[in-house]
Amino acid sequence: MSYPYQIKSIEQYHQDYKKSVDDPDSFWGAIAQHFQWRKKWDKVLEWNFKEPNVKWFEGGKLNITENCIDRHLATMGEKPAIIWEPNDPNDRVRIVTYNRLHKRVCQVAQMLKNNGVQKGDRVCIYMGMVPELAYAVLGCARIGAIHSVIFGGFSVQSIKDRLEDTGAAFIITCDGAFRGGKDIPLKSVIDDALVGNNLVKKVIVYTRTRTPVSMIKGRDIWWEDEMANAEDQLEAKGPISFPAEEMDAEDPLFILYTSGSTGKPKGVVHTTAGYMIWTTYTFVNTFQYNPGDVYFCTADIGWITGHSYIVYGPLAAGATSLMFEGIPTYPDAGRFWDIIDRHKVNILYTAPTAIRSLMGFGLDPINGKDLSSLKVLGSVGEPINEEAWHWYDKNIGKSKCPIIDTWWQTETGGTMISTLANVTPARPSWATLPLPGVQPILVDENGKEVIQKDDQGLWKGNLCIKAPWPGMLRTTWGDHERCRTNYFAAYENLYFTGDGALKDADGNYRITGRVDDVLNVSGHRIGTAELENAINMHTGVVESAIVGYPHDIKGQGIYAYVIYQGHHGDDELRRQDILQTVTRIIGPIAKPDKIQFVTGLPKTRSGKIMRRILRKIAEGDVSNLGDITTLLDPGVVEEIIKGRI
Ligand code: WTA
Repeated sequence: MSYPYQIKSIEQYHQDYKKSVDDPDSFWGAIAQHFQWRKKWDKVLEWNFKEPNVKWFEGGKLNITENCIDRHLATMGEKPAIIWEPNDPNDRVRIVTYNRLHKRVCQVAQMLKNNGVQKGDRVCIYMGMVPELAYAVLGCARIGAIHSVIFGGFSVQSIKDRLEDTGAAFIITCDGAFRGGKDIPLKSVIDDALVGNNLVKKVIVYTRTRTPVSMIKGRDIWWEDEMANAEDQLEAKGPISFPAEEMDAEDPLFILYTSGSTGKPKGVVHTTAGYMIWTTYTFVNTFQYNPGDVYFCTADIGWITGHSYIVYGPLAAGATSLMFEGIPTYPDAGRFWDIIDRHKVNILYTAPTAIRSLMGFGLDPINGKDLSSLKVLGSVGEPINEEAWHWYDKNIGKSKCPIIDTWWQTETGGTMISTLANVTPARPSWATLPLPGVQPILVDENGKEVIQKDDQGLWKGNLCIKAPWPGMLRTTWGDHERCRTNYFAAYENLYFTGDGALKDADGNYRITGRVDDVLNVSGHRIGTAELENAINMHTGVVESAIVGYPHDIKGQGIYAYVIYQGHHGDDELRRQDILQTVTRIIGPIAKPDKIQFVTGLPKTRSGKIMRRILRKIAEGDVSNLGDITTLLDPGVVEEIIKGRI
């Protein structure tokens, strides 16, 4: 069995691609029929990129959880929806069948209703990678509440900002989360974030680590008690079921924050029908998923990859999605390979940074592990370098599994450019061809399409998309103008990705990385402005500038140039203090790898920091810094070079 919209040959790919561009309405209308609707749409697509205003399947009514769960029950009720692998390999594995998932999601829906959550309310979710996180997300979707998952690596100030921006009155969290040898005290971080917050009415706490937590009467309640309660209530009415809220196709499904080139993270808003269809379609086609395959995505649900390709896409396709609580190096660097062996994983989807870090442990952790179940390997989050690609291909795929390099973004909802496993050809470090519905274009600084090839015979430019696809962001929460200026104002009538790319004569794309002030550290987006703001909050810091530099494992490392004034401690202590500050304000993921104290920064006469120069110095390439005579104080460059770390 396969999916009616599954692309089976390269000829079909070209045909479908053409159809999707020539007549998107009939192309996507035909695919949408394979989903479950309460009411059919009136119009497939309406759009302009000026405002922007993008609407898919307007007039259609549905609930995404009926598509992810209910419609599978008759035929696949006892099939595993989620296989959960705990942090500690000796703990109990949990297999969540579609029937069980249905029951739990209905209970969560009832629990949320009991606590006053209504359609359209925002619910912030700050949990470790436990099945309850998936139940929480889907429970919100069941009643039409808008979830906003906050990655467990973010700390107090980031949570405060997100609570404020979403206006959430409800939080779902855990006492703590296990990650490798660590126990991260999530509830206590939430408590700190709630100081001075008057909006949050209820905090639901799931018990995972048994870390002692403070529980405030009237506000904090236990997940276990509430779920038991909900179960009793539902059971009193017969077999457990909770009616799904009827949602408009364009009703918001979730908000997910992501860093951009401006100071504060943006709340990217995805809506219901288009996102569902896009994640399912791309999931089935890029991985060439076949029913029964065991699929393992190593991302965290706190990021878009987890939303789209652990929860929504796979479940809507009736797949078996393996969810892993821990980290690739715990208890040792063979953990991924143990999991693949243990659960006979067929499809592995991970990030180049994980591959590079595991490469460093050599082949010992792989030896003796049976990886023969693997059929397809995926990569996401950053450009995969050739060395990592070949290592992955040879040692994990045993040279028989296609590697799909999936390029996409939080804003795109799902994969945009990727090889389709066994259908279109893969090529190391190239994302290759756009999915049907995706119309990329490379432009120069002025927004003109790049016509001239470079000396390698490639087109090189800023990557934009010409027309809407079903999974694209619709707005940024609470500030539509910000969405316009960030994505649709740089070039007229184009969505600008912020990435640079190369294209060859066959239409293949190679993503070269960000062209804006956003770093990609271990596959996580970090805005330099946001990080500078955090560093500048330290009492002693006068000014700072952040640049990226090549890092063997993380892809990009964070280099901070800091002007410091004060007498507290020595340089080492000051560095530690700055790291602590960043950890408090953003989270440990944003900690700089290197901090260099300087007395000045290279600035233009208009006061703009010349990051190009700082980047070169951080990279250790000081031979050709370009013209520095126009700088306000050229002397500062010499000093910075001398003090380089
Ligand atoms: C980068 C993650 C090259 C890119 C899904 C993009 C990639 C940013 C790839 C989005 C890839 C992601 N090849 N670069 N296969 N995948 N990127 O929002 O710079 O966390 O703009 O979404 O990651 O990161 P985000």
